[in-house]
Amino acid sequence: MNLLKYIIFSFCAIATTAVMAQKPIYLDETRSIDERIEDLMGRLTLEEKIALIHAQSKFSSAGVPRLGVPDLWCTDGPHGIRPEVKWDEWDQAGWTNDSVVAFPALTCLAATWNTDLALLYGRSIGEEARYRKKDVLLGPGLNIYRTPLGGRNFEYMGEDPYLAGRMAVGYVRGVQSNGVATCVKHFCLNNQEWNRHGVSVHADDRALYEIYLPAFKAAMMEGGSWSVMASYNKIDGQHAGHNYRTLQQILKQEWGYKGAVISDWGGTHNTDEAVRNGLDLEFGTGTNGLYGGSKNYYDSYHLALPFLDGIRSGKYSQADLDDKVRRVLRLHFHTTLNTNKPFGSLHSPEHYAAAREIGEEGIVLLKNEDNLLPLKLDEKKTILVVGENAVKMMTVGGGSSSLKVQREITPLEGMQQHFPNTVDIKWVRGYVGDTDGSYNGVTTGQDLSETRSFRELVDEAVAEARSADYVIFIGGLNKSYGQDNEGSDRQSYDLPYKQDSLITALAKANANLVVVNISGNAVAMPWADNVKAIVQDWYLGSEAGEPLAAVLAGTVNPSGKLPFSWPKALNDVPAHRLDAYTAHDEEYKESIFVGYRWYDKENIATLFPFGHGLSYTSFVYSKPKVSKRAISASDSLTISVDITNTGKVAGKEVVQLYIADLESSLPRPVKELKAFRKVSLAPGEKTTVCFTIGSDALSFFDPDKHAWVAEPGKFEAILASSSADTRTKVRFELK
Ligand code: BGC
Repeated sequence: MNLLKYIIFSFCAIATTAVMAQKPIYLDETRSIDERIEDLMGRLTLEEKIALIHAQSKFSSAGVPRLGVPDLWCTDGPHGIRPEVKWDEWDQAGWTNDSVVAFPALTCLAATWNTDLALLYGRSIGEEARYRKKDVLLGPGLNIYRTPLGGRNFEYMGEDPYLAGRMAVGYVRGVQSNGVATCVKHFCLNNQEWNRHGVSVHADDRALYEIYLPAFKAAMMEGGSWSVMASYNKIDGQHAGHNYRTLQQILKQEWGYKGAVISDWGGTHNTDEAVRNGLDLEFGTGTNGLYGGSKNYYDSYHLALPFLDGIRSGKYSQADLDDKVRRVLRLHFHTTLNTNKPFGSLHSPEHYAAAREIGEEGIVLLKNEDNLLPLKLDEKKTILVVGENAVKMMTVGGGSSSLKVQREITPLEGMQQHFPNTVDIKWVRGYVGDTDGSYNGVTTGQDLSETRSFRELVDEAVAEARSADYVIFIGGLNKSYGQDNEGSDRQSYDLPYKQDSLITALAKANANLVVVNISGNAVAMPWADNVKAIVQDWYLGSEAGEPLAAVLAGTVNPSGKLPFSWPKALNDVPAHRLDAYTAHDEEYKESIFVGYRWYDKENIATLFPFGHGLSYTSFVYSKPKVSKRAISASDSLTISVDITNTGKVAGKEVVQLYIADLESSLPRPVKELKAFRKVSLAPGEKTTVCFTIGSDALSFFDPDKHAWVAEPGKFEAILASSSADTRTKVRFELK
């Protein structure tokens, strides 16, 4: 018997060893990715290589069926996982299991100034992507906020490259910990939606390197994003999807990026350029197999038959192809071929909690005269809520980031759930915005129709406002065409739907008026002086109403800070003041002076500065200490400051460190954000915040040398609560 067992055991062991020995290197996860790529490269036919580098459906590209390499599935991004569309079309596939959690828009994430929350955001949305079996998440969006008219600013992280970069690193690492790639977008200089496929932008080298590239570089090189999406616009006359300078020279040669460059959907226009200028994976060039004639339409993509024929005829080299294939395979090894990745999860309580926490920390209290907020709800109170955005579901709309959610709490519902039941809440419409709650076949199912005239709605709101203890106006923009929306910019800086006149009338009727603005962009506020409290709410996703109600009631102390400057008038914005916002040839005349860099230089007061956000408590900064008064270029310096919560409630403060170069051979911004830290303090509590900076925080991009240069001289470290609220500063020298 024992002998029989021994024979069976030996046989099995031999068989197992034989099977193991046969395991190809590309499937052997003990090998390095580079070895596995080379092994797989050696097994692929020319046709299989071509199939890997272009789409086979709206959102997937082919794997290698013969060798068990799975298809690669992409999804939007960046605020939740997009519902399934048909294989060949944008129309809904009609699945009933693809509803998700909508996380707050990226403007809100940036407004938290909390890198831990960026990681949490990434991890959570990555889990949803993974559960939905997606390999590439098309996000985060990292384009710099250049004009408040920008239709997609809500999908980006504000005007400052350092802030956007720090937040992006967390998001990328969080997503990719799930074996799901991020695809940072839109690379690059895609700062408007107006003529987004045709506009040709021209930015000088300093603007490019100091303002428009750093967040991408942080996300890709430090965060390690496995892919990047090239944008629609042209850069110096050549489409960004196959732009030699940005993709080949900067991204691949200068930075040494090893990931895959994916086209935006329909952003590829020229085969020669697509082959030679750094595009690796083509998506969305034409839709479908339905209207493309007898052949599979995807075969006509630039990186399909035209490329294949060119290789066969000797026009294109095998090396051009192999570089793209290696990059796409690397993406596969991190995602589809990674058998160690977790399984993910969908609409878990943890995801809702994450969405809520990010919302709570991102809401910005812009103004709070007479401490009107938090609302005093300890005894019987009547609250009149006015405005369409109090009841409108905002997760549907806006373009490719539109979602199909499992649930969405509107602001009105949030207040009803959150406020004590001694509070009597009444809602009136006030204005009619966009009653259509649908995008691309997904509908909210809400009936927002209204037959009364604007005059009647205002009269009703004003009459009700007179007798209320508080009036909370909830308006702003929405995600309809021409507002915070992909494919169009806003037509005006003003609030739409005559909201200004409604707010003015409400302010006259009741002094206890709180204006809640929901948007991803700054808007004109001609009534700002007549309103006691203004709250910047963003598109907060599934939980929307909860964080807002918590901030209004004071259960959460607001701690968000603006990720962009809030100008008084559109003409204060450099792109508009300098006539540098156009549909065709657009020169970025303001160069590096974007956002606060411009307002500081021109001494233009904003309505609310970059980094601004009030709290229900107050913080006092001590005199800072520096570890040394002078450093050399290879040295670093520590700046420390004590922060004390001097108020009566716990709160969070974002300590912002700006550096001013006091003597420089080239013009520089008055100051630039180089570090920040969010701290949480109980009443009376004190903590020490330390920042360590090196010469990289002191340097500028010298276009003549084509290098970052830190010039010896005097610098100032400015510790501030916003870009216009310096609390304390200290000087030091670079030897
Ligand atoms: C957008 C991208 C998006 C892609 C796929 C494009 O129109 O610009 O941001 O990821 O579509 O939906």
